[in-house]
Amino acid sequence: MQQMIEQEAQKRKEEKYPDDMQLLIQEGGYISPNEYLWEDILVGVVLKKPILLKGPSGSGKTKLAQSISAYFNQPMHSVNCSVDLDAESLLGFKTIVQQDGQSVIEFIEGPVVQAMKKGHILYIDEINMAKPETLPILHSVLDHRRMLTNPFTGEVIYAHENFTVISAINEGYVGTTPMNEALKNRFISFSVPYLSGEELREIIEVEFPNVSNGLVDTIMNISHDLRKQVINGLLSDEAASIRSLLDAMSLAQYISVKRAIRYALAEKLEDEIEQNLVMELVDTWVK
Ligand SMILES: Nc1ncnc2c1ncn2[C@@H]1O[C@H](COP(=O)(O)OP(=O)(O)O)[C@@H](O)[C@H]1O
Ligand SMILES: [Mg+2]
Repeated sequence: MQQMIEQEAQKRKEEKYPDDMQLLIQEGGYISPNEYLWEDILVGVVLKKPILLKGPSGSGKTKLAQSISAYFNQPMHSVNCSVDLDAESLLGFKTIVQQDGQSVIEFIEGPVVQAMKKGHILYIDEINMAKPETLPILHSVLDHRRMLTNPFTGEVIYAHENFTVISAINEGYVGTTPMNEALKNRFISFSVPYLSGEELREIIEVEFPNVSNGLVDTIMNISHDLRKQVINGLLSDEAASIRSLLDAMSLAQYISVKRAIRYALAEKLEDEIEQNLVMELVDTWVK
Protein backbone atom coordinates (compact mmCIF):
# COMPACT_ATOMS: atom_id res chain seq x y z
CA MET A 1 0.00 0.00 0.00
CA GLN A 2 2.77 2.35 1.05
CA GLN A 3 4.58 1.51 -2.17
CA MET A 4 1.54 2.23 -4.34
CA ILE A 5 1.13 5.64 -2.72
CA GLU A 6 4.80 6.50 -3.10
CA GLN A 7 4.89 5.47 -6.75
CA GLU A 8 1.92 7.68 -7.51
CA ALA A 9 3.49 10.59 -5.58
CA GLN A 10 6.70 10.14 -7.54
CA LYS A 11 4.76 10.26 -10.78
CA ARG A 12 2.73 13.33 -9.84
CA LYS A 13 5.80 15.19 -8.62
CA GLU A 14 7.33 14.92 -12.07
CA GLU A 15 4.68 17.28 -13.47
CA LYS A 16 5.96 20.79 -14.13
CA TYR A 17 3.64 23.71 -13.53
CA PRO A 18 3.91 27.34 -14.67
CA ASP A 19 4.63 29.95 -11.95
CA ASP A 20 1.03 31.08 -11.45
CA MET A 21 -0.08 27.47 -10.90
CA GLN A 22 2.93 26.72 -8.71
CA LEU A 23 1.47 29.30 -6.31
CA LEU A 24 -1.57 27.07 -5.86
CA ILE A 25 0.51 24.27 -4.36
CA GLN A 26 -0.32 24.36 -0.64
CA GLU A 27 1.64 23.91 2.56
CA GLY A 28 1.29 20.63 4.43
CA GLY A 29 1.38 19.85 8.12
CA TYR A 30 -1.76 17.81 8.78
CA ILE A 31 -1.28 15.44 11.70
CA SER A 32 -3.33 12.24 11.52
CA PRO A 33 -5.44 11.41 14.59
CA ASN A 34 -4.43 7.73 14.24
CA GLU A 35 -1.96 5.66 12.26
CA TYR A 36 -4.31 4.96 9.35
CA LEU A 37 -6.54 7.96 8.45
CA TRP A 38 -3.96 9.88 6.42
CA GLU A 39 -2.81 6.78 4.50
CA ASP A 40 -6.34 5.55 3.87
CA ILE A 41 -7.25 8.90 2.35
CA LEU A 42 -4.14 8.79 0.14
CA VAL A 43 -5.20 5.34 -1.08
CA GLY A 44 -8.56 6.86 -2.05
CA VAL A 45 -6.78 9.64 -3.94
CA VAL A 46 -4.50 7.23 -5.78
CA LEU A 47 -7.55 5.17 -6.81
CA LYS A 48 -9.09 8.41 -8.19
CA LYS A 49 -12.02 8.33 -5.79
CA PRO A 50 -13.60 11.66 -4.89
CA ILE A 51 -12.91 12.20 -1.18
CA LEU A 52 -15.43 13.61 1.29
CA LEU A 53 -14.10 14.90 4.61
CA LYS A 54 -16.73 15.15 7.34
CA GLY A 55 -16.00 16.85 10.62
CA PRO A 56 -16.71 19.81 12.85
CA SER A 57 -15.29 23.27 12.24
CA GLY A 58 -11.60 23.53 13.04
CA SER A 59 -10.93 19.79 12.87
CA GLY A 60 -8.32 20.18 10.15
CA LYS A 61 -10.30 19.35 6.99
CA THR A 62 -8.84 22.22 5.00
CA LYS A 63 -5.39 21.49 6.42
CA LEU A 64 -5.78 17.88 5.32
CA ALA A 65 -6.68 18.87 1.75
CA GLN A 66 -3.74 21.30 1.69
CA SER A 67 -1.46 18.54 2.92
CA ILE A 68 -2.55 16.31 0.03
CA SER A 69 -1.67 19.15 -2.35
CA ALA A 70 1.73 19.44 -0.67
CA TYR A 71 2.29 15.67 -0.65
CA PHE A 72 1.66 15.30 -4.39
CA ASN A 73 3.14 18.73 -5.19
CA GLN A 74 -0.11 19.44 -7.01
CA PRO A 75 -1.89 22.82 -7.39
CA MET A 76 -5.23 23.10 -5.59
CA HIS A 77 -8.26 25.18 -6.64
CA SER A 78 -10.70 25.97 -3.84
CA VAL A 79 -14.41 26.55 -4.20
CA ASN A 80 -16.37 27.80 -1.19
CA CYS A 81 -19.99 26.82 -1.47
CA SER A 82 -22.85 29.12 -0.53
CA VAL A 83 -26.43 29.54 -1.73
CA ASP A 84 -25.05 31.93 -4.38
CA LEU A 85 -22.79 29.30 -5.93
CA ASP A 86 -23.84 28.75 -9.54
CA ALA A 87 -22.65 26.86 -12.60
CA GLU A 88 -20.54 29.83 -13.67
CA SER A 89 -18.57 29.93 -10.43
CA LEU A 90 -17.75 26.25 -10.95
CA LEU A 91 -17.22 26.00 -14.70
CA GLY A 92 -16.41 29.54 -15.87
CA PHE A 93 -18.07 32.26 -17.92
CA LYS A 94 -18.03 33.95 -21.29
CA THR A 95 -16.63 37.43 -21.69
CA ILE A 96 -15.73 39.81 -24.51
CA VAL A 97 -12.04 40.45 -25.12
CA GLN A 98 -10.19 42.55 -27.67
CA GLN A 99 -8.07 40.60 -30.11
CA ASP A 100 -6.26 42.41 -32.96
CA GLY A 101 -8.72 45.29 -32.66
CA GLN A 102 -11.70 42.96 -32.82
CA SER A 103 -14.15 42.05 -30.07
CA VAL A 104 -14.29 38.30 -29.58
CA ILE A 105 -16.08 36.13 -27.07
CA GLU A 106 -13.77 34.13 -24.85
CA PHE A 107 -14.60 31.54 -22.23
CA ILE A 108 -12.74 32.08 -18.94
CA GLU A 109 -12.30 28.66 -17.39
CA GLY A 110 -13.47 28.22 -13.81
CA PRO A 111 -11.90 26.03 -11.11
CA VAL A 112 -13.58 22.76 -12.13
CA VAL A 113 -12.60 23.03 -15.80
CA GLN A 114 -9.04 24.11 -15.00
CA ALA A 115 -8.51 21.37 -12.43
CA MET A 116 -9.91 18.72 -14.79
CA LYS A 117 -7.82 19.76 -17.77
CA LYS A 118 -4.57 20.42 -15.94
CA GLY A 119 -4.76 17.54 -13.48
CA HIS A 120 -4.99 19.67 -10.35
CA ILE A 121 -6.83 19.17 -7.07
CA LEU A 122 -10.32 20.60 -6.76
CA TYR A 123 -11.25 21.38 -3.14
CA ILE A 124 -14.96 22.00 -2.61
CA ASP A 125 -15.48 23.41 0.88
CA GLU A 126 -18.80 23.25 2.74
CA ILE A 127 -20.35 21.34 -0.12
CA ASN A 128 -23.66 21.05 1.74
CA MET A 129 -24.05 24.85 1.79
CA ALA A 130 -24.68 24.89 -1.97
CA LYS A 131 -28.22 24.91 -3.35
CA PRO A 132 -29.17 21.29 -4.15
CA GLU A 133 -29.86 22.15 -7.80
CA THR A 134 -26.33 23.50 -8.43
CA LEU A 135 -24.20 20.44 -7.90
CA PRO A 136 -25.77 17.78 -10.15
CA ILE A 137 -23.75 19.42 -12.92
CA LEU A 138 -20.78 17.67 -11.31
CA HIS A 139 -22.27 14.17 -11.24
CA SER A 140 -20.47 12.96 -14.37
CA VAL A 141 -17.24 14.54 -13.12
CA LEU A 142 -17.46 12.67 -9.83
CA ASP A 143 -18.30 9.17 -11.02
CA HIS A 144 -16.33 6.72 -13.16
CA ARG A 145 -16.91 8.87 -16.27
CA ARG A 146 -14.65 11.69 -14.99
CA MET A 147 -15.94 13.93 -17.77
CA LEU A 148 -18.13 16.94 -18.35
CA THR A 149 -19.94 18.53 -21.24
CA ASN A 150 -19.53 22.25 -20.62
CA PRO A 151 -23.05 23.67 -21.03
CA PHE A 152 -21.64 27.12 -21.87
CA THR A 153 -19.41 26.03 -24.74
CA GLY A 154 -20.49 22.51 -25.64
CA GLU A 155 -16.93 21.33 -25.11
CA VAL A 156 -16.53 17.75 -23.88
CA ILE A 157 -13.84 17.62 -21.23
CA TYR A 158 -12.17 14.43 -20.02
CA ALA A 159 -10.32 14.76 -16.74
CA HIS A 160 -6.52 14.52 -16.67
CA GLU A 161 -5.37 11.36 -14.86
CA ASN A 162 -4.12 13.35 -11.84
CA PHE A 163 -7.38 15.25 -11.39
CA THR A 164 -8.47 14.86 -7.76
CA VAL A 165 -11.62 15.99 -5.96
CA ILE A 166 -11.74 16.61 -2.22
CA SER A 167 -14.86 17.98 -0.54
CA ALA A 168 -15.52 18.97 3.03
CA ILE A 169 -18.67 19.29 5.11
CA ASN A 170 -19.51 20.40 8.62
CA GLU A 171 -22.38 18.07 9.32
CA GLY A 172 -25.44 19.30 11.11
CA TYR A 173 -24.65 23.03 11.15
CA VAL A 174 -27.20 25.80 10.80
CA GLY A 175 -27.66 26.73 7.14
CA THR A 176 -26.53 23.36 5.87
CA THR A 177 -28.92 20.97 4.19
CA PRO A 178 -28.28 17.24 4.28
CA MET A 179 -26.20 16.31 1.28
CA ASN A 180 -28.18 15.00 -1.67
CA GLU A 181 -27.93 11.18 -1.78
CA ALA A 182 -26.88 10.94 -5.42
CA LEU A 183 -24.05 13.38 -4.75
CA LYS A 184 -22.93 11.81 -1.47
CA ASN A 185 -22.97 8.39 -3.11
CA ARG A 186 -20.18 9.41 -5.47
CA PHE A 187 -17.69 10.07 -2.70
CA ILE A 188 -15.82 7.88 -0.31
CA SER A 189 -16.26 9.45 3.01
CA PHE A 190 -13.97 9.98 6.00
CA SER A 191 -14.74 11.35 9.46
CA VAL A 192 -12.12 13.85 10.55
CA PRO A 193 -12.09 14.13 14.36
CA TYR A 194 -10.54 16.76 16.59
CA LEU A 195 -7.05 15.75 17.64
CA SER A 196 -6.31 14.93 21.26
CA GLY A 197 -3.50 13.59 23.41
CA GLU A 198 -0.02 13.27 21.93
CA GLU A 199 -1.09 14.35 18.43
CA LEU A 200 -2.58 17.55 19.81
CA ARG A 201 0.59 18.25 21.77
CA GLU A 202 2.53 17.74 18.57
CA ILE A 203 0.61 20.47 16.66
CA ILE A 204 0.93 22.86 19.59
CA GLU A 205 4.67 22.26 19.78
CA VAL A 206 5.11 22.64 16.02
CA GLU A 207 3.10 25.88 15.92
CA PHE A 208 4.52 27.34 19.14
CA PRO A 209 8.09 26.06 19.49
CA ASN A 210 9.09 28.78 21.98
CA VAL A 211 6.24 28.50 24.46
CA SER A 212 6.97 27.24 27.99
CA ASN A 213 6.06 23.66 28.88
CA GLY A 214 3.91 25.00 31.68
CA LEU A 215 1.66 26.89 29.30
CA VAL A 216 1.43 23.94 26.89
CA ASP A 217 0.44 21.67 29.82
CA THR A 218 -2.22 24.10 31.00
CA ILE A 219 -3.76 24.36 27.52
CA MET A 220 -3.60 20.57 27.12
CA ASN A 221 -5.37 20.06 30.46
CA ILE A 222 -8.09 22.56 29.60
CA SER A 223 -8.51 20.94 26.19
CA HIS A 224 -8.85 17.50 27.81
CA ASP A 225 -11.61 18.76 30.14
CA LEU A 226 -13.43 20.55 27.33
CA ARG A 227 -13.43 17.41 25.24
CA LYS A 228 -14.77 15.38 28.18
CA GLN A 229 -17.71 17.75 28.48
CA VAL A 230 -18.32 17.60 24.72
CA ILE A 231 -18.50 13.81 24.99
CA ASN A 232 -20.85 14.17 28.00
CA GLY A 233 -23.08 16.34 25.85
CA LEU A 234 -22.70 19.41 28.06
CA LEU A 235 -20.77 21.43 25.46
CA SER A 236 -21.27 21.67 21.71
CA ASP A 237 -18.59 20.28 19.38
CA GLU A 238 -17.01 23.66 18.65
CA ALA A 239 -15.83 23.88 22.26
CA ALA A 240 -13.20 21.31 21.28
CA SER A 241 -12.21 23.06 18.04
CA ILE A 242 -8.48 22.85 17.39
CA ARG A 243 -8.62 26.16 15.55
CA SER A 244 -10.03 27.92 18.62
CA LEU A 245 -7.57 26.18 20.90
CA LEU A 246 -4.60 27.28 18.77
CA ASP A 247 -5.98 30.83 18.73
CA ALA A 248 -6.22 30.72 22.52
CA MET A 249 -2.63 29.47 22.72
CA SER A 250 -1.53 32.32 20.50
CA LEU A 251 -3.16 34.93 22.74
CA ALA A 252 -2.06 33.21 25.96
CA GLN A 253 1.56 34.00 25.11
CA TYR A 254 0.71 37.66 25.84
CA ILE A 255 -2.43 37.81 28.01
CA SER A 256 -3.85 35.66 30.81
CA VAL A 257 -4.91 32.15 29.85
CA LYS A 258 -8.34 32.89 31.21
CA ARG A 259 -8.94 35.87 28.93
CA ALA A 260 -7.34 34.04 26.02
CA ILE A 261 -9.80 31.14 26.35
CA ARG A 262 -12.67 33.56 26.81
CA TYR A 263 -11.95 35.43 23.55
CA ALA A 264 -10.87 32.50 21.39
CA LEU A 265 -13.37 29.93 22.60
CA ALA A 266 -16.04 30.75 25.20
CA GLU A 267 -17.40 33.93 23.56
CA LYS A 268 -18.06 32.03 20.36
CA LEU A 269 -20.46 29.54 21.94
CA GLU A 270 -24.11 30.45 21.47
CA ASP A 271 -25.31 29.22 24.83
CA GLU A 272 -24.49 31.25 27.95
CA ILE A 273 -24.61 28.14 30.14
CA GLU A 274 -21.93 26.59 27.93
CA GLN A 275 -19.84 29.76 28.08
CA ASN A 276 -19.97 29.67 31.89
CA LEU A 277 -19.10 25.99 31.98
CA VAL A 278 -16.01 26.62 29.83
CA MET A 279 -14.85 29.40 32.15
CA GLU A 280 -15.45 27.21 35.22
CA LEU A 281 -13.30 24.48 33.71
CA VAL A 282 -10.56 27.01 33.03
CA ASP A 283 -10.77 28.19 36.66
CA THR A 284 -9.81 24.73 37.86
CA TRP A 285 -6.46 25.03 36.02
CA VAL A 286 -5.49 28.70 36.37
CA LYS A 287 -5.91 31.33 39.07
N1 LIG B 1 -4.98 17.28 12.53
C1 LIG B 1 -4.43 18.49 12.37
N2 LIG B 1 -3.16 18.60 11.95
C2 LIG B 1 -2.58 19.83 11.78
N3 LIG B 1 -3.21 21.00 12.03
C3 LIG B 1 -4.49 20.95 12.46
C4 LIG B 1 -5.16 19.70 12.64
N4 LIG B 1 -6.41 19.95 13.09
C5 LIG B 1 -6.52 21.29 13.16
N5 LIG B 1 -5.36 21.90 12.78
C6 LIG B 1 -5.11 23.33 12.75
O1 LIG B 1 -6.32 23.96 13.20
C7 LIG B 1 -6.65 25.07 12.37
C8 LIG B 1 -7.99 24.85 11.70
O2 LIG B 1 -7.88 23.82 10.74
P1 LIG B 1 -8.74 23.80 9.41
O3 LIG B 1 -8.11 22.82 8.49
O4 LIG B 1 -8.93 25.19 8.91
O5 LIG B 1 -10.14 23.22 9.97
P2 LIG B 1 -11.53 22.95 9.17
O6 LIG B 1 -11.26 23.13 7.72
O7 LIG B 1 -11.89 21.54 9.55
O8 LIG B 1 -12.52 23.94 9.74
C9 LIG B 1 -5.51 25.25 11.39
O9 LIG B 1 -4.59 26.17 11.94
C10 LIG B 1 -4.89 23.86 11.33
O10 LIG B 1 -3.53 23.95 11.04
MG1 LIG C 1 -12.10 24.56 6.42
